Amino acid sequence: MKVFVCRKIPAAGLDKITAACEADIWEGDLPPTQDQLAQRVRGVDGIVSLVTDKIDGDIMDTAGKQLKIISQMAVGVDNIDIQAAKARGIKVGNTPGVLTDATADLAFALLLALTRRIVEGVDYVRAGRWKTWGPELLLGPDLRGATLGIIGLGRIGKAVARRAFGFEMRILAHSIDLTPDEAAEVHAQTVDLESLLHESDFVTIHTPYTPETHHLMNRERLQMMKPTGLLINTARGPIVDQKALIEALQNKIIGGAALDVTDPEPIPMNDPLLTMPNVIVVPHIGSASIQTRNRMAEMAAENLIAGLRGEKLPNPVTE
Ligand code: DGY
Repeated sequence: MKVFVCRKIPAAGLDKITAACEADIWEGDLPPTQDQLAQRVRGVDGIVSLVTDKIDGDIMDTAGKQLKIISQMAVGVDNIDIQAAKARGIKVGNTPGVLTDATADLAFALLLALTRRIVEGVDYVRAGRWKTWGPELLLGPDLRGATLGIIGLGRIGKAVARRAFGFEMRILAHSIDLTPDEAAEVHAQTVDLESLLHESDFVTIHTPYTPETHHLMNRERLQMMKPTGLLINTARGPIVDQKALIEALQNKIIGGAALDVTDPEPIPMNDPLLTMPNVIVVPHIGSASIQTRNRMAEMAAENLIAGLRGEKLPNPVTE
């Protein structure tokens, strides 16, 4: 069986793949372009994709009718046209669960970095500006007693809530179909989105990217946040209308933002967000812990091999 692996993934998964099938591995540091992808998938039975690879109906058709499985090394699958895969009877698998804690840790790290102005502090020291201890130097808000608004109380949102509880924060949550009992399990209180935005000191996004969540945080909703409010996004860039976010920050409608994901990715070097001291941007590293990425690679290999054998996927998005 032939497969195309869209990037060199950790050996924990890659070794399983090369042992089980004839694997063509994209060796570039940058992902294949759409043309390169089309050339390399021709005739394969399986594809191992990453969040950077657009797997649409055209790519599936170019691969050919023998394509059985698209195994995504990520939990989010918004880069794959799931309906097109279903229509062609191609299975899709992903890697849920294993990156929950790593992503929640990063969301919390960004929250702490923003509130305690860590990046500004590092820049201050590196610029040789540290002359003395300052009674009012780089002050920021406390977490204890503050209100954290979690948009999307799924696996990752709940893991963030558990961390927030440890920091003695008040936790508000908004998700479709979220019951008060389910929220209470992680010490959160369910509210509508508007109340969450009005009442929260910090807002963190953990919802999947779908047509419904496109630009969920638009100009109107950003205006509902407190002028001191901080926005954290470790989910997907286009959930936030980035133009509206820039305006909100420039006009002091909100207090700051920390983004692990942007629209587009990578963020262009001339983006105004990169010049703002109250903004932190990191390069989509939510799941970037060693153990997590190893396990994601293993799970992607397991889904791939099961799909090639016509077996039930251990972690199916579609069957
Ligand atoms: C995911 O899994 O969806 C992350 O964005 C990448 O690990």
